[in-house]
Amino acid sequence: MAPPPADPRDRDMLRLITCGSVDNGKSTLIGRLLFDAKQVPGDHLEALARDSRRYGTVGDSPDLALLVDGLQAEREQGITIDVAYRFFSTPRRRFIVADTPGHAQYTRNMVTGASTADLAIVIVDARKGLLTQTFRHSTIVSLMGVRHVVLAINKMDLVDYSEQRFTEIAAAYSLLAKRLDFAAVTAIPTSALCGDNVIVPGTAMPWYGGPTLLDHLESVEVDRAGTQPFRLAVQWINRSGADFRGYAGTVLGGSIRAGDEIVVQPSGAASRIARIVTQDGDLAEAGASQAVTLTLADAVDVARGDVFASPDRAPHVADQFACHLVWMHESPMLPGRPYLLQLGTATMTATVTELKHRIDVETGVHEATKQLALNEIGFANIALDRSAPFDSYDENRDTGGFILIDRTSNATVGAGMIRFPLRRASNLPWQAFAVDKEARARIKHQRPCVLWFTGFSGSGKSTIADGVEKRLLALGRHTYSLDGDNVRHGLNRDLGFTDADRVENVRRVIEVARLFSEAGLIVLVSVISPFRSERRLARERMAEGEFVEVFVDTPFDECERRDPKGLYRRAREGKITNFTGIDSPYEAPESPDIHVRTTEMSLEGEIESIMTALRDRGIIG
Ligand code: ADX
Repeated sequence: MAPPPADPRDRDMLRLITCGSVDNGKSTLIGRLLFDAKQVPGDHLEALARDSRRYGTVGDSPDLALLVDGLQAEREQGITIDVAYRFFSTPRRRFIVADTPGHAQYTRNMVTGASTADLAIVIVDARKGLLTQTFRHSTIVSLMGVRHVVLAINKMDLVDYSEQRFTEIAAAYSLLAKRLDFAAVTAIPTSALCGDNVIVPGTAMPWYGGPTLLDHLESVEVDRAGTQPFRLAVQWINRSGADFRGYAGTVLGGSIRAGDEIVVQPSGAASRIARIVTQDGDLAEAGASQAVTLTLADAVDVARGDVFASPDRAPHVADQFACHLVWMHESPMLPGRPYLLQLGTATMTATVTELKHRIDVETGVHEATKQLALNEIGFANIALDRSAPFDSYDENRDTGGFILIDRTSNATVGAGMIRFPLRRASNLPWQAFAVDKEARARIKHQRPCVLWFTGFSGSGKSTIADGVEKRLLALGRHTYSLDGDNVRHGLNRDLGFTDADRVENVRRVIEVARLFSEAGLIVLVSVISPFRSERRLARERMAEGEFVEVFVDTPFDECERRDPKGLYRRAREGKITNFTGIDSPYEAPESPDIHVRTTEMSLEGEIESIMTALRDRGIIG
């Protein structure tokens, strides 16, 4: 569910996110807030009474958590499972509450909720104190730019309203708050169940002289980003009518008036706003979170994903940046693997080029790591497939925040906050040489190509590749063979067989194969290359028509039976771990260019079928 649009000009509106573990009373606390603030319509109260008898966990009184836990499935499991936005208002202020589940795997919803919040209510159970979840959620809200925190130390009724317990937990949290650089933390002892200090003070904690939760929320001043420079990410280009060309999108920062100068990024083209068009007629001015269509005074090239910006404070334009990443998927983030990156309205391919560290959420310590697992937070360098406009997340959450999507499953797997641009590649122009790939290939009278053999260990990749190379040589072709085993003795000596290492192994082999193809050679690559994602990358890195995927299809059982290097036996004895097909996956190609079924053919037949396919493709004459 998309968050409702944030309007930073709406000073009266406070946007909250609630974070807490599954059973520390989060839903009851919000339910109490709505119930006591008389925000619950009459028919809901009747339903609440009925549901409380059916699902409730608190005897005859209304179970306030049921007001919040909307879905039946959640009710029955007793956990909340989606992010839900609730609007409520008091005479003093209006609120939007993003209620996010505390269950470990639902970081994704938390990230969504935090990306628009002004203040986080971190809820802890007074009996349990700070849990790993508390540290993780607080770290995430801090990285996502939330500066104000209310620490609701809840279930005070279950610790006899102990002041000492309250002080202990508040003190422990203030250490964390210092590290996370929150502007203000207000600790409030509550009992959502009994109602103490949610809206009214109650009588059980005379030692507490601070505000109730609602008092605090009504009066807290949050410092939103000051005047932001104008940003609009172009969502689509409206060409209705012969002369009309409008650029539709949402204002993601600052404001714009007809006549204002703008710059279009990444191209850098300059123009002026001619009109601000909406369904209800033209506007003189548009501000943050307004959806508008802009027309420009000049004919400039604009594509979807481009950003219109104020020229004096334009966004960065670069193809690399450093960022914090929150990983939200069961399959880990692997550096070197291409993901889709969505930033504003632009989608591009991105890889993590360097994972600098992972953050231990409990201590804040930066740990070395090769990958990020579910719910882990890291700091990384990312490279895009092209230059793009962006801001640092601190300057603008919309143009500085992004998500990563898995290219095979289309699942959202990570969220990121850009910290600063890296200008590495931008200071490295491509050197143009007189002698290029064409020239090198021409003198060899051949078309360069990469033959990519994939299959299990012992499937026969190297043997078949060797046979094909001999035939090519006999035809006077210039070739080079890159073999997994051999490359791992030199260039890739530092890599093992974890998923992360295989991704890096294959990525390097791809780049080397590309260089050899630039040299005009026919390159034969034999690596297990067990993942579709990297084989797809291999195809994309080579020139059109110059990549041929050969699936050496020997069934796993047959490879194990042959066991040419004795590795299967050793893997079965537990002497080799992460062995492909045993405890490491192999994703068979879905539509290889050449499919060699080795159990149905002789080696000669296999070689011949590949030579025929190469002839058919015009790679050899
Ligand atoms: S890949 O998965 O990263 O593409 P690559 O083809 O380079 O693998 O290397 C595989 C070769 O390493 C195998 O043919 C085998 O000889 C050897 N090897 C050693 N340990 C393993 C293992 N755990 N899994 C697969 N192959 C292994």
